[in-house]
Amino acid sequence: MIDERVRLYEQSPLLEVAGEAIRPGGLALTDRALEFCALPIGSRVLDVGCGPAASIGHFKVKHQLDAVGLDPSEMLLRSGRRRNLCLPLMQSYGERLPIASEQFDAVLTECSLSVMKDADRALAEFERVLRASGYLILSDVYARNPAGVAALHHLPIDSCLCGACSQAEITDRVVAHGFEIKLWEDHTKALNAFAAQLIWSNGSLQQFWCRATSRANTLDIQTAIARARPGYYLLIAQKISR
Ligand SMILES: C[S@@+](CC[C@H](N)C(=O)[O-])C[C@H]1O[C@@H](n2cnc3c(N)ncnc32)[C@H](O)[C@@H]1O
Repeated sequence: MIDERVRLYEQSPLLEVAGEAIRPGGLALTDRALEFCALPIGSRVLDVGCGPAASIGHFKVKHQLDAVGLDPSEMLLRSGRRRNLCLPLMQSYGERLPIASEQFDAVLTECSLSVMKDADRALAEFERVLRASGYLILSDVYARNPAGVAALHHLPIDSCLCGACSQAEITDRVVAHGFEIKLWEDHTKALNAFAAQLIWSNGSLQQFWCRATSRANTLDIQTAIARARPGYYLLIAQKISR
């Protein structure tokens, strides 16, 4: 079935504000994750849902990691290649990684698991391509009010806000797929700063939603989001060696 929903992460009212990384926290949050994992130079890292590949370039230049990016969006991959033709980028889905098993020391997915259609299948794929004790690094939106999750999932937009789950649902899923959680950190301040930038650049959140979705009335979207009390997290887990 073709997904006709507006892909928020490809819309200019968001891209104009986001800069190089289309998510809260920017590369500083990526650095926080790498500091925790302390990966040796040359480690292999896969960025699933890499978008315009800001993190890939950063991994290579600042951290000397052997990083590869994967994303289904032709438009966002093109924008990454425009910045640097040499970036190793693949067009595919997190739920179907075109990669042999046990190839990577870390799999990273920043603000992207929540937009994947089948998060369980994607997590099973992440576990498969990681080496023993490899790191799973997730940063994403979560719902601080679990009672608001169902309404989010019915919204007519393809966005990490609409795919957000509760903390318990995320951690249970990660554990069920063979990982041990090493870190959960709340970074809701970064999400609030991102929302403030959207307001600053569009005049109001309502204007942002109207421009991004081409709809005159976006009250349903704003009400559902406000009820779910969105937050932002960084989760780091390690593959359990069997
Ligand atoms: C909010 S953007 C984040 C992009 C990037 N990680 C960043 O930090 O700038 C979400 C990304 O997930 C990608 N995406 C959507 N569906 C996906 C899927 N099934 N598998 C992998 N990535 C997906 C989108 O194309 C988009 O690039």
